[in-house]
Amino acid sequence: MTAVTSQAQTVDQTIDQAAGPPALREGAFGHATALSCRECGHRIDLGPHYACPECFGPLEIAYDFPAVTAREIEAGPPNMWRYKALLPVPEDIEESPNTEPGFTRLLKANNLGRELGIDNLWVKDDSTNPTNSFKDRVVACALSAAREFHSKVFACPSTGNLANAVAAAGARAGIKTVVFIPADLERPKQVNSAVYTDSLVAVNGNYDDVNRLASEIAGEEDGWAFVNVNVRPYYAEGSKTLGFEIAEQLGWRLPDQVVIPVASGAQLTKVDKAFRELIELGLVEEKPYRVYGAQATGCSPVATAFKDGQQVVRPVRPDTIAKSLAIGNPADGVYVLDICRRTGGAVEDVSDDQVREGILLLARTEGIFTETAGGTTVGVLKKLVDTGQLDPTLETVVINTGMGLKTLDAVADQVGAAVTIDPSYGAFVATGLA
Ligand SMILES: Cc1ncc(COP(=O)(O)O)c(C=O)c1O
Ligand SMILES: [Zn+2]
Repeated sequence: MTAVTSQAQTVDQTIDQAAGPPALREGAFGHATALSCRECGHRIDLGPHYACPECFGPLEIAYDFPAVTAREIEAGPPNMWRYKALLPVPEDIEESPNTEPGFTRLLKANNLGRELGIDNLWVKDDSTNPTNSFKDRVVACALSAAREFHSKVFACPSTGNLANAVAAAGARAGIKTVVFIPADLERPKQVNSAVYTDSLVAVNGNYDDVNRLASEIAGEEDGWAFVNVNVRPYYAEGSKTLGFEIAEQLGWRLPDQVVIPVASGAQLTKVDKAFRELIELGLVEEKPYRVYGAQATGCSPVATAFKDGQQVVRPVRPDTIAKSLAIGNPADGVYVLDICRRTGGAVEDVSDDQVREGILLLARTEGIFTETAGGTTVGVLKKLVDTGQLDPTLETVVINTGMGLKTLDAVADQVGAAVTIDPSYGAFVATGLA
């Protein structure tokens, strides 16, 4: 058993090598009880672990949930901590500085629905999080774990958005951050990290190279919390809040269909986990729902495996403008396959041109400027309808996970000033725009 103490300990308390890691405080992980292997079910004590000691399978958090009512959740803060009882975080999570992400808008998307022929369509718009992507949610959970483990450094390998979220959350929490990205990442995503941290590391290689490097550093260095490597089980739970919010904002019920972008696949698997937990807790009625995954064709290992009827995901070398989704060897790929097959959904992919079309379609129908990940998701939504894989008569939610200002170049050549005129009324009339 991990030793437990009731003493709160501060984030700057470092690990004393001789004495071993400091004890965990009581309730450090809320109602989480253990780490459980997703492959063989083996359980171990809560700690900074991510691989099963028996079979090397990925670990996830197991809980003993209390009875939670909708009223209690609704009385909580307007951020993801309203669901703290269902996350691996302590009861006093709101007292430690964090970016307070979540509770973003769920918008009825009638214009986009009309355009695509979908009767009842919603956009869950996560572009309005503190650093403009859903990654603020997962990072908030990872930060809590890093605190409880007394980590010295808060770090990540990233396709861009995660680095932004880690750098910002670390700055606010007063913990040293080091974030690693592929050197060819879009400039705005680099700047959006570098404003918060002196330690942005650009690596000559793709995301999978960066991820391998991060795993090596995590194995060598003590006291480093790599959010999506050695604290990944805690981190990933943050994505459940997207699923919780969708259900709450629909009036405590599940949608019939949900379309989610896939890079590592963590988000998709956790939205499904959230829906199942809500059913288990009696917070929503049990009903069938379909989960769909969206990838860009230039990095579509999961969509390829889905279409080929494979049980394994063959890694690919990414080549797409959807850089935030450019993970060629997705950690949760096989679980995405399982979920999409079990629920009767699908995993689809669209070309870079369709990604650009998806960005413009969402912008012009709903006034939401999404990044390439969202362009991918909207493009896939359209393709799913056109190919008869998604039922347009059923209630559907599409998740917009990021912000278009971070990937301006994707559409900069396609939009711009309609005309340039002299500042006179006559010149304006001559344009025919009046
Ligand atoms: C904007 C955006 N959407 C979706 C994803 C996919 O997330 P996951 O790795 O959980 O599949 C990412 C991952 O980096 C992202 O940045
Ligand atoms: Zn195992």
